[in-house]
Amino acid sequence: MDNITENILELHDVETFIGQYHILFGVNITVRKGSATVLLGRNGGGKTTTLETISGLRPPFAGTILLDGKDIAGLPAYEIIQSGVGYVPEDRDIFSDLTIEENLLISSRKGNDYDKRLELVFELFPDMKKYFKKKSRILSGGQAQMLSISRALINDNKLILIDEPSKGLAPILIRELIDRINIIKKDNTVLLVEQNWEMATSVGDYFYIVQDGMTVFECTKEELLADDTIKQKYLGV
Ligand SMILES: Nc1ncnc2c1ncn2[C@@H]1O[C@H](COP(=O)(O)OP(=O)(O)OP(=O)(O)O)[C@@H](O)[C@H]1O
Ligand SMILES: [Mg+2]
Repeated sequence: MDNITENILELHDVETFIGQYHILFGVNITVRKGSATVLLGRNGGGKTTTLETISGLRPPFAGTILLDGKDIAGLPAYEIIQSGVGYVPEDRDIFSDLTIEENLLISSRKGNDYDKRLELVFELFPDMKKYFKKKSRILSGGQAQMLSISRALINDNKLILIDEPSKGLAPILIRELIDRINIIKKDNTVLLVEQNWEMATSVGDYFYIVQDGMTVFECTKEELLADDTIKQKYLGV
């Protein structure tokens, strides 16, 4: 089988510096088309830096990053985003002075079927329709997260990167978000950073543990759930 059509993303021996600090030492990840892959690991391991490296915000110092078979390592972020990568950063990067509509409009890429994508966003997150003309600063934490995800969904992306969507949300909202991401997953390939065990295991098909700037372990959901020592060894739970 042709490898290129199977894997939407491959990271090989990726290394990244932040300023003078060597942060990623060897990240190896394969994201299979149509799957949800989850990066797990304790605080400071390099999960966010990995997503920033893929999206071009922090160009790697070494290694290759294949998006649909094409090496994107070192390309400017706008080019990577243009080529179909949606990025939902850790801190819900929305513009609070803009309305929901404006937040979505500025994210929509040229040539995009905006009306069709908007319909999809409304279906998934009815609150976006309800508050469409309101400034996004009125949104609750959960709704702000939904807007942040909607900004990625407004384009027909090949791959969506989502960094800790559950952070700071109440359990009931986390459960709602799990349902939504499971719907998103049906049509989109997702690479998720998540420390919330319930969300990680309800959404993920494949898992990587990122520790000290390296991917130190990988497994399927079945393997993760079957082996408690993985949790104890790498996650301290
Ligand atoms: N701007 C920066 N300058 C220097 N070091 C940084 C900077 N940003 C992150 N780091 C360091 O890089 C390492 C990896 O950070 P990163 O944010 O990628 O981890 P993470 O796995 O996402 O952690 P968390 O679970 O807390 O979100 C950490 O040791 C962190 O202190
Ligand atoms: Mg992080």
